[in-house]
Amino acid sequence: HPAGAPSADLAKKITKVGIVGAGLMASQFALLFVRKLKVPVVITDIDQARVDKGVTSIRSSIDELQAKGRINADESNRLQALISGTTDIADFSDADWVIEAVFEELQVKRDVFANVERVVSESCVLATNTSSLSVTAIGADLAHPERLVGFHFFNPVAVMPLVEVVNTDVTDEETLSTAMVVAKTLGKSAVITRDAPGFVVNRVLAKLLGEAMHAVETGTPFEVVDRATAPFGLPMTPFELLELVGLTVGAHVLDTHHAAFPDRFFESEALHRLAEHGRIFDRDSKGKRRGFDKKAVAIVAG
Ligand code: 3HC
Repeated sequence: HPAGAPSADLAKKITKVGIVGAGLMASQFALLFVRKLKVPVVITDIDQARVDKGVTSIRSSIDELQAKGRINADESNRLQALISGTTDIADFSDADWVIEAVFEELQVKRDVFANVERVVSESCVLATNTSSLSVTAIGADLAHPERLVGFHFFNPVAVMPLVEVVNTDVTDEETLSTAMVVAKTLGKSAVITRDAPGFVVNRVLAKLLGEAMHAVETGTPFEVVDRATAPFGLPMTPFELLELVGLTVGAHVLDTHHAAFPDRFFESEALHRLAEHGRIFDRDSKGKRRGFDKKAVAIVAG
């Protein structure tokens, strides 16, 4: 049975956070953890270069906050001191909350948690930021799958108010309660979702993004789909949203939904090719869109 109602009384106290994966998403939520939980945050990845890149990105975000006057010098120094990087997972041994945001490949995530479980204590909560893999499948080989929960952030992490907390059939009440309290402490509103492909948000978004890609792949120009969908009142058009989440991630999300529900979702081969190319829009040096990238248009036309 899924865990019952979460309760703040059951939540575990978090005194140290471990983050696996030092990419774009992880660097964004690392900053949030350090600012809001106010505890040491250690970030790891498969090599020193990736770790350094992630840590540098977090450090410059802290500098930016200070430059904008959002935090003072003391706070900035405090945050900088709480952030560290490592290539040695043993540095997670005293963490009470470990979250991963590595490549969206089931076996990669399973291996990550197998390694994490070797070093952390039995009471450490494990969380995955997977966007569409099964949390149950990610935890299948764990010695203690009851302490695994989905904790799905949205881009841009600092701005988007929601976290989806994914409750598997074996997640226990302490874990679920801890996740809800962590989300609240991070300043996010949380919803508890079932462990179903795409949870709630990506299930809805995959429909929109998949249909938009299908329209261009079947001959409707990018401009037309973009203009036609703009009046929906969403802050971004489907193609802007695809660039924001990353074209590779977007293509992966569509693949996962198509695999789960082939009659309901499109996969997009063209989106994979666009991901290789790296962009849909032609942008100026400030990132403002000038129009659609000519090569992207040619790629979709085949
Ligand atoms: N990274 C970090 N911060 C960003 C950002 C980015 N890429 N883009 C904008 N921001 C910040 C700005 O710094 C600004 O913060 P401030 O007020 O503290 O200075 C704030 O967001 C508002 O920015 P702007 O006024 O410049 O821009 P907009 O009002 O146009 O808002 C937006 C930008 C918040 C990104 C808005 O367009 C939006 O909400 N877009 C939709 C995003 C969305 O749907 N995300 C979900 C994607 S799905 C996902 O992530 C799931 C995954 O699993 C696939």
